[in-house]
Amino acid sequence: MIETVTNLDALRARVGEWKRAGLRIGFVPTMGNLHAGHHSLVKLAREHADCIVASVFVNPTQFGPDEDFARYPRTPEADAAGLEASGCDVLWLPSVDTMYPYGAAQAVHLRVPGVTDTLEGAHRPGHFDGVTTVVARLFNQVQPDVAVFGRKDYQQLAVIRYMVRDLAFPLEIVAAETKREADGLAMSSRNQYLSAEERPVAAQIHRTLLAMRDGIVSGESRAAVERNAASHLRDAGFDVDYAVVRTPELVEPEGASPIGPRVALIAARLGKTRLIDNLEFEAGTAQRA
Ligand code: PAF
Repeated sequence: MIETVTNLDALRARVGEWKRAGLRIGFVPTMGNLHAGHHSLVKLAREHADCIVASVFVNPTQFGPDEDFARYPRTPEADAAGLEASGCDVLWLPSVDTMYPYGAAQAVHLRVPGVTDTLEGAHRPGHFDGVTTVVARLFNQVQPDVAVFGRKDYQQLAVIRYMVRDLAFPLEIVAAETKREADGLAMSSRNQYLSAEERPVAAQIHRTLLAMRDGIVSGESRAAVERNAASHLRDAGFDVDYAVVRTPELVEPEGASPIGPRVALIAARLGKTRLIDNLEFEAGTAQRA
């Protein structure tokens, strides 16, 4: 049976027992409304640890004033059942007061420089400050040996890795592959905002990423690839925030070797739903996923 813990002292007691028994603790932070993508993070954590904690906390500090904090889907019973089925031991369910004892507005804030200035950071000012502010707290609360984050949030993963290294958190970060629906749409809690008409159109994001990869691999210029991607998405009905090709460090590849690792990233809005996705590939080879 999964144990649901809402009190920090109780969490510390459980984690302390495990640590004294020499067990390795795996952690999966989430905002709930869990789907097969989250369950795969728990299963991956199991491969790296003996005991698994997953947190569900819809973190107010990472949402902008006009974003979907209030309507973000909250499904605690289904989340607990899904976590139990995927092998999670403890569901950590902190309240806002536990997470932010001085209140969210008075919280000590963390800011990772550089990598947060671009893409999601540019389109969602303050978002990554909220993410690092809460993830650092979660790490202090759970004290995991390993924490699993999805590659779907590519930039978030880079920001977390930076924070862990810079603040010397004594834990390992493991990245999990993106889980996709049959038509390629990356699994996301926000997919359920899509209307029946929008849902098949949303798969164009993954198709566009594949086309971006193919364009770069076959020698098209990055500018042309990005322009065509944005224009294709607009024709399909999206408002495009970005459709770009970057190095793994998320910088523009000018000056980088024409051969090497790249990531294509898209953020686009379909109606009221903002979707993000990415695709990692090797430039200069004919690799196909
Ligand atoms: O990726 C998410 O669900 C959130 O950004 C995280 C890491 C749980 C922090 O609130």
